[in-house]
Amino acid sequence: MVTDYLVIGSGIAGLTFAVKIAEEFADREITIVTKGDEDESNTKYAQGGVAVVLDTEEDSFQKHIQDTLIAGDGLCDEPVVQMVIKEGPKRFKELITWGANFDIDPRGNFNLGKEGGHSEHRVVHHKDITGLEMERTLLARVHQLENVTLFSHHFAIDLITEHHLKQGVSHQLSCYGAYVLEERTGKIHTIKAKNTLLASGGIGRAYGYTTNPDVATGDGIAMAYRAKAQIKDMEFVQFHPTALYNKQGESTFLISEAVRGVGAFLRNKKGHRFMPDYDPRAELASRDIVSQSIDNELKKSGDTHVFLDCTHLDSEAFKKHFPNIYETCKTLHIDIEKDWIPVVPASHYLCGGIVVDKNGKTTIKNLFACGECSRTGLHGANRLASNSLLEALVYAHNIFKYLTGESNQPMDFEIPDRNDEGTSIPKEHVLIQHNLKELQALMRDYVGIVRSNDRLTKAITRLDIIYKEVEELYKTSKVNTSLCELRNMINVAHLIIGESLSRKENRGGYFNIDNI
Ligand code: FAD
Ligand code: SIN
Repeated sequence: MVTDYLVIGSGIAGLTFAVKIAEEFADREITIVTKGDEDESNTKYAQGGVAVVLDTEEDSFQKHIQDTLIAGDGLCDEPVVQMVIKEGPKRFKELITWGANFDIDPRGNFNLGKEGGHSEHRVVHHKDITGLEMERTLLARVHQLENVTLFSHHFAIDLITEHHLKQGVSHQLSCYGAYVLEERTGKIHTIKAKNTLLASGGIGRAYGYTTNPDVATGDGIAMAYRAKAQIKDMEFVQFHPTALYNKQGESTFLISEAVRGVGAFLRNKKGHRFMPDYDPRAELASRDIVSQSIDNELKKSGDTHVFLDCTHLDSEAFKKHFPNIYETCKTLHIDIEKDWIPVVPASHYLCGGIVVDKNGKTTIKNLFACGECSRTGLHGANRLASNSLLEALVYAHNIFKYLTGESNQPMDFEIPDRNDEGTSIPKEHVLIQHNLKELQALMRDYVGIVRSNDRLTKAITRLDIIYKEVEELYKTSKVNTSLCELRNMINVAHLIIGESLSRKENRGGYFNIDNI
């Protein structure tokens, strides 16, 4: 199969780019592959909203820039921060022209929420299901465009570079598309593309205890890494302070930071409101500080979770802004009007990833990255809440703009199909499940919110054992999604641990007791 633009992923990053480029070039083909249902993504679950400066009487670009830089703890790329925040309002308004709805206050202005680290109310939202509304809007637009084809349940296995071509490796590597597994038939397609966009999202599932859905396995980062693209800042895994506690310690529902934005308190088991002990901004300190404070409270007490107290809030206003959170709690017999919500930090977002410039270009020619899999320099050591959807919108536009200036080159060479000679269908599925559980436990216990060189070194030793076993299985097996995902998460874990061991000072979301 040949296409002009191959987009890997159907979250906000991939879909926004696809809509824009398809609208501009009706004669060019855009192919989106996505490994699950078409809407399954981190985007779909985004709750709080999009941070954007719309009310310039109270707010200003400068304040949003300052808040982003403070959250990033000295490691943001300032020109990138300036660019993203100033471009934000234009990109946000495009979403509205495509049909997205955001909450409006009684005066007819956008209802602006507040989250940790923000000095002003600036988070536009659609109740507490902002991501679902964005995903709905973008998918509807994609389906209207005749030059976009979206293949769901198609898993990108590897990028195609010179390593796969008969002509051998040239000075600068280029990307020529990807090998893609059609999950329902097991057939591997060679998709040859003039330009490839990785929009494959985050890595949450490498930790098991995560706010992310099952698709967040870091595939794009692992593929780019194997293709030899530059990857950076992988040690900055962001833990969201308030994931709903469950005894199983698996993927978990998020209680939005916007709930603290309307005044909810964090309490320990004894009922003490502890955040003022740690930071003058209390519950609205940036996420790294709140998560590390909760971790400290749990270590001191030996408890498994803390609580979010909403009992003093206006319950009617709560139900209106947070209907999804209210209902989810209710089904678990938590009545937010009377009961405190049990919460615990969980892996939520990756600040690092595939290095890109302001045009979303990676270090490999014709390969772009956008959204959570990319490392733009916006977030530094810790992402400011609700800056992620914004970043994806702005960079999808920048990549589109860059590519409109590029000529549409012919692709007159052959790419060999993926060679899986000598492999067979893996019989021991238990090996995949067992190693996945071990990897997730390892990442949670040894590479969590508070790290130490000793735990990180032990983690590497154990990871190497898992790596060898899985590589062996991979070499002899016909590929399937769960095996590839596990292999990708192992790559990602190596990158996180490796970069953690190299970081000699604590910044933002990275905290190592040996650096104190
Ligand atoms: P995603 O939306 O995750 O999309 C990735 C896509 O790639 C998916 O379609 C996936 O199936 C596909 N994919 C992955 N690997 C492959 C492969 N190998 N082959 C084919 N397809 C593949 N950010 C905010 O700014 N505001 C918020 O309020 C907010 N709330 C959040 C709440 C939750 C619960 C979570 C989990 C995240 C939240 N975030 C929020 C973060 C934000 O949602 C994500 O960072 C953002 O949506 C990422 O968008 P994306 O397009 O880069 O990736
Ligand atoms: C939330 O609603 O708390 C998530 C916001 C984010 O991750 O940006």
